[in-house]
Amino acid sequence: MRPTEARLRSLGIEDLAALTTLEQAGQHDPWTPAQLEAVLDDPEARVVGVEQDERLVGHAVVVRLPFDAELQAIMVAGDRRRQGLASRLLEAVIEAAKGWDAERLLLEVRSSNDAAIGLYRRAGFNEDGRRRGYYPPLAGRDREDALLMSRPLA
Ligand SMILES: CC(C)(COP(=O)(O)OP(=O)(O)OC[C@H]1O[C@@H](n2cnc3c(N)ncnc32)[C@H](O)[C@@H]1OP(=O)(O)O)[C@@H](O)C(=O)NCCC(=O)NCCS
Repeated sequence: MRPTEARLRSLGIEDLAALTTLEQAGQHDPWTPAQLEAVLDDPEARVVGVEQDERLVGHAVVVRLPFDAELQAIMVAGDRRRQGLASRLLEAVIEAAKGWDAERLLLEVRSSNDAAIGLYRRAGFNEDGRRRGYYPPLAGRDREDALLMSRPLA
């Protein structure tokens, strides 16, 4: 069956259970329910979700900083990837950050995460630097560098 049209909306505390299920299904190091609850309740954060077929299939978390904003999470359910949903979430995050008058959108990403790095490059992010050995190892590998990326919002 063809998927229904995807819809984006801001998530609130009533979405905690769906968000927890989504995070635990799709991430190597998922946010805990307590972390998700805290960010859903934080007036300096925005959590954007995308729903399809009456299911939460993706989300992004952006936090307001002095002068800048930081993308702290973005993910799409495994069976809904490569359909442009993360790109749409990123557009919504960029609009939210512009609404805060942020100068730049910042993020950190594992240096092996080709899908995310491709997404960010396509959306206009540049590489600003690298933190050596920042991330704990994934199964059977060494610690991993973080790429620091940013996109101007002006
Ligand atoms: C990264 C992620 C959010 C991308 O979601 P998505 O909805 O599949 O992304 P989109 O369909 O919007 O892709 C946009 C662009 O990103 C790049 N991209 C996405 N997935 C890719 C992959 N597997 N390999 C290479 N490039 C990829 C491509 O340039 C793509 O454009 P194209 O499809 O026209 O070639 C998704 O793979 C995911 O949830 N991964 C696990 C969580 C994660 O790693 N989050 C980032 C943490 S920093």
